[in-house]
Amino acid sequence: MIDREQIGIRIGALRRKAGMSQTALAERLGVSAQAISKWESGKNLPDIDLFRELAWLFNMTMDSIVEGDLAFTQKSRERILPANVTALAPEVEKQKLLLGLAPYCSDTELYSIAKELADGNLELSLAAGIKRKEEKTERMVSIPTGALGECTLREVAPYFSKALGEMMGNTEPGLRRIAGMMSCPVCRERLLLKNKDENKRYFECKNRHRYELTDGVVHFGTREIQGELWSLFLKNYEDYLLQHYYPGNPRYNMGKVSSKEVRWQVLKKLRPHIILDIACGTCNGIKYDLQRIDWPCLVILTDLSHRVLKYGKRYFSEELVNPYVDIVCLACDCAHLPIEDNSIDMVVSCGGFESMQSKMMDGFREGYRVLKPGGHAVYDFSVVDDHNSENTKKWERLYRTLDETYHLHEQLYEIGEWKEVCRRTGYLSTEAKEIYRELPAPEDEVFPFENEVLQWMGVSVFVSEK
Ligand SMILES: C[S@@+](CC[C@H](N)C(=O)[O-])C[C@H]1O[C@@H](n2cnc3c(N)ncnc32)[C@H](O)[C@@H]1O
Ligand SMILES: [Zn+2]
Repeated sequence: MIDREQIGIRIGALRRKAGMSQTALAERLGVSAQAISKWESGKNLPDIDLFRELAWLFNMTMDSIVEGDLAFTQKSRERILPANVTALAPEVEKQKLLLGLAPYCSDTELYSIAKELADGNLELSLAAGIKRKEEKTERMVSIPTGALGECTLREVAPYFSKALGEMMGNTEPGLRRIAGMMSCPVCRERLLLKNKDENKRYFECKNRHRYELTDGVVHFGTREIQGELWSLFLKNYEDYLLQHYYPGNPRYNMGKVSSKEVRWQVLKKLRPHIILDIACGTCNGIKYDLQRIDWPCLVILTDLSHRVLKYGKRYFSEELVNPYVDIVCLACDCAHLPIEDNSIDMVVSCGGFESMQSKMMDGFREGYRVLKPGGHAVYDFSVVDDHNSENTKKWERLYRTLDETYHLHEQLYEIGEWKEVCRRTGYLSTEAKEIYRELPAPEDEVFPFENEVLQWMGVSVFVSEK
């Protein structure tokens, strides 16, 4: 039996531990302060989505909140230190700190940090400010890392590791991490990150093809598809969402579960460390995951449009910041990804493949190429029910009457046909989870949707393993 009162007590304890008022927590979750008060007094339980959000916020497993594992055990992110690192730092204090940093660093980075620590070149501390109410200036107290308990260390480790990475490599950690797996989309030679002049970083291959970093985005010289101006959507992002999610729109709230949630469940289970989003656009899809990922992860956002990524980059480094995630943006054609074979743990596409229009299949094959063996492609994709059914036949007929520029891809697929495409591409297995099925065709002979031609098709989330 679920003990509401005990769950409430635990929620209250976690909230106080996080230093939040009921109102602050309510704001974070988008509920009323009364709702929080009702949970904490055991009158009500948060619904499942909010529960997940709470667990994420407090860095707990849902189980430990529900089951009342009294120690409130946090999710384990333990790793053992490589031998060469331990040798450099035999002291318990230093090892404790390095263990805290380990999940966020590569072994090489960890080694350089240990080396600097051993040489006495680094001092890490936590700064805290104290200020009398009526005084203007704040007194700063510096707490040496040796004095920090394990829990605090764990909480600050992602911040330390980011700062340390920047200090040592002089570049963003994400860029350093991706540098080893980039290849020139023109000649396929390795791309190296050059930063002779700190402000002008660029990637270059040995044939001197050069790709500069502009506004934090690696620019492969691509531009938006003529006439599409996807990035304008972002300028009025709220409007864009409204356009798509108004109740008269058939896609509004369709499906019992959203494709975002289905994808997130897969992500959470597989815990990939390197994710590539194909044709990420306004990041409406991956944003859901970027709010939830709680393991060290590199997320590579790719899109044709430099402008769309430029806004995205700013959004994810200033507004929606997840300390576990390093973001890298590549303005490139996803039909020629500037990434080496077998280097990505998970390729995601939130309606991205279809957006590539005539290049859809090239993008799909590229996704396969860059995946590591054993890696997964997780993407939502539009499918028709059955070419022989009267409903699908009518839709297909109307679809073909549209202006040619509306044709996103040559062929419309049933689930089974698409699975066969995956098999031919090389995937070992493909599972489909239906989000919603094809809409009923209209009574008359007019195609009812102005520019969202795929709205009438069904949507499934496909998970394919390489
Ligand atoms: C509607 S968005 C896709 C939805 C997006 N994944 C999301 O979650 O919000 C379409 C994007 O596809 C991009 N796109 C179209 N063709 C592309 C290509 N060949 N390579 C990369 N991106 C492409 C467009 O620039 C646009 O930003
Ligand atoms: Zn080249």
